[in-house]
Amino acid sequence: MSSIIEHDILIVGAGLAGLRAAFEGITAGLSTAVISKVHPLRSHSCAAQGGVNAAINPNDNWEDHAYDTVKGADYIGDEDAIDLMCKEAPQAVLDLDAMGCPFSREEDGTIAQRPFGGANFPRTAYAADRTGHAMLHTLWEQAIKYGTDVYDEYQLMELTVDKRTGRCSGAIAMDIKSGKLVQFNAKAVLIATGGYGRLFASNTNAMINTGDGVALAMKAGAPAGDMEFVQFHPTGLKSSGLLISEGVRGEGAYLIGKDGKRFMQKYAPNKLELASRDVVSRAEMTEIMEGNGEDGAIFLDVRHLGRAKILERLPQIRQLAIDYEGVDPIDEPIPVKPTCHYTMGGIRADKVGHSMLKGLFTAGEASCVNVHGANRLGANSLLETIVFGKITGKAMVEFVEGEGAPRPNSVGKDLRDVQARIDEIKDRPQEGGVRPDDIRTALTENLNENCSVFRDDARLKKALKAVEKAKKDFAKAYVDDKGDAFNTDLLTTWELGNLIILGEATVKAALERKESRGAHSREEYPDRDDENWRKHILCKWDADKGEVTLDEDAVRTLGKEKYEPQERKY
Ligand code: FUM
Repeated sequence: MSSIIEHDILIVGAGLAGLRAAFEGITAGLSTAVISKVHPLRSHSCAAQGGVNAAINPNDNWEDHAYDTVKGADYIGDEDAIDLMCKEAPQAVLDLDAMGCPFSREEDGTIAQRPFGGANFPRTAYAADRTGHAMLHTLWEQAIKYGTDVYDEYQLMELTVDKRTGRCSGAIAMDIKSGKLVQFNAKAVLIATGGYGRLFASNTNAMINTGDGVALAMKAGAPAGDMEFVQFHPTGLKSSGLLISEGVRGEGAYLIGKDGKRFMQKYAPNKLELASRDVVSRAEMTEIMEGNGEDGAIFLDVRHLGRAKILERLPQIRQLAIDYEGVDPIDEPIPVKPTCHYTMGGIRADKVGHSMLKGLFTAGEASCVNVHGANRLGANSLLETIVFGKITGKAMVEFVEGEGAPRPNSVGKDLRDVQARIDEIKDRPQEGGVRPDDIRTALTENLNENCSVFRDDARLKKALKAVEKAKKDFAKAYVDDKGDAFNTDLLTTWELGNLIILGEATVKAALERKESRGAHSREEYPDRDDENWRKHILCKWDADKGEVTLDEDAVRTLGKEKYEPQERKY
């Protein structure tokens, strides 16, 4: 295969957002390629369990969904994008239904919906507790049907920029099986590489979630936004952090302490276990810190739901609890704890997903469009992927048709630059060096400890020190594998470089935001401060200084008449 490949649209990431956008490109007749470091069906979208929100019930309406989302985001989501997402949600779900997605059904044949956290209506459509899996297979079938060019096991190494126009012109990727670099030139590029939950030692995320697209977009000149907001899901399995769906509480599960009693009435008297995730995670941590936990965990109790309902609606979580905790939820409560689940931060973009770097688009968890603000509502993530995959895909088609092609830099230069950096890493000596794994473990454990559910100045400064140490050590990181084929030693080192940038952005933004809002809870600033902090923090990569610098951006609001900020209670 040639080392230069041309397409109209290049999509990096083959999860739901990427494949949904590809559908738009390919059905518009444009040459559309998807690259992914894993096979598309291994994308992290397949891990989403509980469902996808949409006001498809005639007794519900999209405005209520939008209100719940604005409130869940703690009044810092971009309201134009939130309205757009909620309005388009029913059609986006019905599109998937028409493509053959096997959603669970009510007796009358309509798509089944369950309650989810922070929502005032049971509007979460689901396919048992494997909703992402069902949706991903559906979109993958469409990709095959329409002949999308898929380059699986190609890892993004760098984005390229047309120096003359400052426009994104493509990407350099490595063909993992041969180690060969390929330059993809494209008229528009989409980053749909997901989040970076692997920045935290305990998380629900796949190994691949290292935020490559976000970090490399920052390096190419597209700022990231809202990096301080990290979601800790209330029910990760105690030992592994694996996800136990919020859908379990949607089906009626209780959270109990070691005293066997429910505790959420103290923290969210109206919504109880179905308050928003930030509220529930703080409640759990408070119970654990006050001695009502056991071995760092509290318990999720489903016994009262009965065997038949558990087997019908929650088969996967039952198996996960048996396999990874040795507990059958039919008979015993499941030990769970807050664990990093989702990164609200991402590449800052307008409401159709165009980043601040011309020609570079973004959708899904990699993006900061921003529909989640300081706290994402459960089941709005799958929704974001299919709504903005579609909208951004269409926007890219329009962009390509209107703007034509950028001029790639002198042929092969970007590729040779990346190759030189790879060779330099491979040449580093073991003596005096540091293993990348050791750097990653130290960084992710530190952030888990010091940049977590509750934050304060002292702990955040410790986290910043850990980031600085990781940066220093990274310059001496050496790989044992000097080969070309499937060199995961080298590729995970490349990912670590991305994680370090994202860690720096997360901690610097968290130190900067001197208030508590959504998932960002500062002990010395316990209140939300709309007067000074109802704004986004932007994180930029300063290549000369080799560090992340901060800036700010306004929240796109629709005015007080539409969404007047209120005290947030559940
Ligand atoms: O709990 C869950 O099933 C996760 C859903 C989500 O993050 O949206």
